[in-house]
Amino acid sequence: MPTKAKWQAPRRAAHYAGARFGTPRAEQRDSRAIARLLRRHGEFPIKDLLDAPCGTGRLAPALSQAAKRYIGADISAAMLGEFRGPNGMRALRINGDATELPFQGGSFDVVVCCRLLHHLDPGAPLEAVARELVRVSRSLVLASFWDCACLPGLRRAWGWRRDTSGRRPLPRATIEEAFAGAGGRLLGYTTSCRFLSMQTFIAVGVD
Ligand SMILES: C[S@@+](CC[C@H](N)C(=O)[O-])C[C@H]1O[C@@H](n2cnc3c(N)ncnc32)[C@H](O)[C@@H]1O
Repeated sequence: MPTKAKWQAPRRAAHYAGARFGTPRAEQRDSRAIARLLRRHGEFPIKDLLDAPCGTGRLAPALSQAAKRYIGADISAAMLGEFRGPNGMRALRINGDATELPFQGGSFDVVVCCRLLHHLDPGAPLEAVARELVRVSRSLVLASFWDCACLPGLRRAWGWRRDTSGRRPLPRATIEEAFAGAGGRLLGYTTSCRFLSMQTFIAVGVD
């Protein structure tokens, strides 16, 4: 199924908003990684932050505390329908495609892209998203992906673990190339447990 169509079903969106992240610890893992990278690379105060894709707004409470203005964008009306942001009006969301974001260049201090890149084909689809994330940022992009250089990635590569969902672990070099091609510069990485967690965040600087 094409990535853009994957989350359009209301049942899938309801699952994502509810049972998808079983424990508070799992639920908070991504926002902790983002907070770590913001402490290392962020220029404070952060005025405008884009969360793309925002999904059901899972990261909105943490991200809207880190920045003065939070905006979420997602291509799925079903996911946006489940969106629960903190403090009503402060948390805005719009329907938007990460390959063609409806914002002018340099609109945001920080752009966060969590749990999308490992659903994309390496090559043109990945490069299109990297280009848009960098284009709309004026300082920093934080994006997660599945790093293939870890135990769960190797289990997949060796065929010990099958994943029929179409998600793919990628080498860091592929992600770095996509962002470098978009004009970004590598600042660093973080992961909750190196070599054990696949989910990894890259920090990309934008000049
Ligand atoms: C795994 S969810 C992650 C949502 C959120 N970032 C999080 O971490 O909870 C992936 C999201 O990507 C969205 N998506 C997929 N392709 C997209 C695209 N081209 N533009 C914008 N959103 C997209 C889906 O609708 C879905 O909400």
